Amino acid sequence: MGASQIRRVKTALENPVFLDDDFLSGTGEFIRSSFPSNRPVLVIQRGLENILGSAVSSLRSQLPGLKIIVTRKGERNKSRREKERLEDALLDRGFGRDTLIIALGGGTLTDLAGFTAGTFARGVPWVAVPSTLLAMVDAAIGGKTGVNVPAGKNLIGLFHNPAAVFDAPGLLSTLPAKEWREGLAECIKHGLIADARYFGAMAATPIGILRRERDLQEKLIAISVRIKGTIVASDPFETSGARNLLNAGHTAGHAIELLSKWRVSHGSAVAAGLCWEAACACAQGFLPRAELREIARAVSERGFAPVWERFSPREVLASARSDKKNRGGKVMYVPLGAIGRPALPPPHTQPIALADLAAGLRLLKG
Ligand SMILES: NC(=O)c1ccc[n+]([C@@H]2O[C@H](COP(=O)([O-])OP(=O)(O)OC[C@H]3O[C@@H](n4cnc5c(N)ncnc54)[C@H](O)[C@@H]3O)[C@@H](O)[C@H]2O)c1
Repeated sequence: MGASQIRRVKTALENPVFLDDDFLSGTGEFIRSSFPSNRPVLVIQRGLENILGSAVSSLRSQLPGLKIIVTRKGERNKSRREKERLEDALLDRGFGRDTLIIALGGGTLTDLAGFTAGTFARGVPWVAVPSTLLAMVDAAIGGKTGVNVPAGKNLIGLFHNPAAVFDAPGLLSTLPAKEWREGLAECIKHGLIADARYFGAMAATPIGILRRERDLQEKLIAISVRIKGTIVASDPFETSGARNLLNAGHTAGHAIELLSKWRVSHGSAVAAGLCWEAACACAQGFLPRAELREIARAVSERGFAPVWERFSPREVLASARSDKKNRGGKVMYVPLGAIGRPALPPPHTQPIALADLAAGLRLLKG
């Protein structure tokens, strides 16, 4: 794909999302023309400077003098401590109000670097260059940034949209199969909440084929970005309740992540959460049983382990209580009415009790 083939994905979002080439040509060009007076700094997850060496070299040649700051990787390091380290590294190198952060990495990095951009020198612009499927289709879209704390996921953060998002599928050529699967969890969620045909197409596409076919990757990224973009644009700051839809699977999913002390990764926990919550929706009479079976089969055929087996309804409920999705002490979730649509109008949520989680678990095991 050459520079001329860089395309803007059609979305309802104000900030552009581009499909970029293997050399991030669009990224360098955009920064030079949109932020001529800013000092760009590349913030990248440890290890990726080598793995994505040619993309980094290309950025360096497009943006002479580009400084690089390497952060610790992983969910554990999406933390206040790592944010502080990053801020100190920026200050040590003399960065100030004219900084522009280029965040290159997975969703943990775009969340951390985006949050840092939102507070550094009272807020500086940033550009997201996600390097995992999950971050391309979800984490880098929608302006939510933040870090985890012992009480729960993403509890400290802010809305700070990147000036632009550059999804370059070429960066995914080094992504291990496990990480492709992680991203598919969020794509499955997008299909479940908004597009039954998309869900069906993903359920039928083996990861091996997806890893090989660039056209398919671009299509999938564009559809997911469009779905998320439409929902985000209708409720950018999560005030009307429309955006809750994106939390499908995340009530149980975040609880599982937290209970596992981040040993269960985000995508795997979301996949488990989607199944468990679909089973709860079925137990509460929202979702037909046949559709639950279809969801559980699609998730299992994509290779997700049934990590929901490892946690009891009681501990999941207790952990979910600390989540930011709670209102007035009640634990809320997003029940599906069918594959491709939620059961309820905005705010889309329904309380979930111990008995519902237990009934859901029985359905899943049966
Ligand atoms: N802000 C949001 O709206 C939002 C939405 C969904 C998820 N998230 C967050 O996203 C995070 C998960 O993101 P993730 O799954 O990308 O995890 P991650 O950032 O930990 O990346 C996963 C792994 O892939 C490696 N990696 C990244 N790019 C690579 C590449 N091109 N080649 C080889 N290896 C590569 C990373 O170094 C890491 O080891 C979670 O913290 C979740 O809460 C945020």
